[in-house]
Amino acid sequence: MHLIWDERKVFDMVTTMASTMANSKVYKPKAFDLSGLTGISDKTLEMHFKLYEGYVKATNELTEKISAILADGKVDQEEMPAYSELTRRLGFEYNGMVLHEYYFGNMTKKAGGVPARDSSFKRAAEESFGSLDIWRADFVGIGKMRGVGWAVCSEDPTTGRLLNHWITLHETGNVAGFAPILIMDVWEHAYLLDYKPADRPKYIEAFLAHVDWNVIDARLKRQSSLATSR
Ligand SMILES: [Fe+2]
Repeated sequence: MHLIWDERKVFDMVTTMASTMANSKVYKPKAFDLSGLTGISDKTLEMHFKLYEGYVKATNELTEKISAILADGKVDQEEMPAYSELTRRLGFEYNGMVLHEYYFGNMTKKAGGVPARDSSFKRAAEESFGSLDIWRADFVGIGKMRGVGWAVCSEDPTTGRLLNHWITLHETGNVAGFAPILIMDVWEHAYLLDYKPADRPKYIEAFLAHVDWNVIDARLKRQSSLATSR
């Protein structure tokens, strides 16, 4: 009987492990065709893509390590320090991966200029801020703030209103449940090969000139179909 119990226990452990691993998605770095931008060099982008790939790799590795700890169905007391550290780091790496995908994904090789007259984003910015210019002043102002992080325009899924906000590093300042609409990286690595630290505003202008407003409208449209209440 004892042997049967052990066999069952081993079977359950293996099943749990297989299930946990199956639920762990392995991410692959996405490719972004952004060479030849005005004001953001290919050298900067190539370095930046490598950094992004590092976040993807770290996200996969941390997820795997956490899954290994969970494979026996519990977190032992002696595993708590490692488990805690891995889980805290996962927030940094995971957001680093996702924010970069939004960032590169909302840029275009063509100079995007400004949102079209009938753009959903333009209408949402006007309703949320009073005018597109005020939205822009706020977004640019956040981008110029001292510190390492991101300027983010996101949509409140309940009200449909847009909000600009600052994220420190990758994970501090995200508003829970809000949908990212426009993401701008203002870590120094995003522009320091092309501009002096004090010239961050020039990088911001170069970035805004290359925003793909069609992508922004598509994100808004997708988000509207997922609108929820709190
Ligand atoms: Fe970055």
